[in-house]
Amino acid sequence: MRIHILDSYEEMSIKAASIVASQIILKPDSVLGLATGSTPLGMYAQLVEMFRNKRIDFREVKTFNLDEYLGLAPDHPQSYNYYMNENFFQKVNVPRENINIPPGNPENIDTACLSYDRAIKEAREIDIQVLGVGTNGHIGFNEPDFKLKTETHVVNLTRETIESNSRFFASADDVPRRAISMGMGSIMRANKILLMASGANKAEVIRKTVSGEITTEVPASLLQLHPEVILVLDKEAGSYLD
Ligand code: GLP
Repeated sequence: MRIHILDSYEEMSIKAASIVASQIILKPDSVLGLATGSTPLGMYAQLVEMFRNKRIDFREVKTFNLDEYLGLAPDHPQSYNYYMNENFFQKVNVPRENINIPPGNPENIDTACLSYDRAIKEAREIDIQVLGVGTNGHIGFNEPDFKLKTETHVVNLTRETIESNSRFFASADDVPRRAISMGMGSIMRANKILLMASGANKAEVIRKTVSGEITTEVPASLLQLHPEVILVLDKEAGSYLD
């Protein structure tokens, strides 16, 4: 793993955006795996800025988002579809037809999972997968469990995730109990992985990600098996690393 520890959230966002931008400059038709959550917001803002300054162009880029809450329509302010449009897609030029986000209200969930995986396969490879990490070690919505799924699937969110994500909702009762998430296989098959984490509450999970036991109980620890992982952290999140 290559680990960058930056002094501030802003520097971290600039570093992560530069890594994604370099990917697009080197390969304009890159396939990006994208994440939501509070951590990558600054990175998206930086990428939008670079686009406005004509330093990057998303015309040929294709994207796949990691996950979505089940039961939230795309125009629900807490849906990840809404988040992506508000913070990124509305402000850059990724063609509509190149944007893939799991549906929150599919007619048939099994078919939706299968067709999401088919679309990933048709894109051939994800060049760079951006990840945040839950305090319990989840990536995407692959929650700690005694076994993990390879492909896109429905997840029952853990109590810790519901509690932690309740900060975005009126109360924990309003947080959807289920989500649809890309599986560990699709994440691990990405050519490069860029994992971002910020804040002291992520220090312990980052220590486990980098040097803890490799266990499905900490899904992020499986990244130790991936040949090209870049960690971009602020100093609080990196504070338990040697
Ligand atoms: C959410 C998302 C993850 C995200 C994580 C961390 O539940 N499903 O993709 O990485 O939690 O979120 P945050 O960046 O807000 O800490």
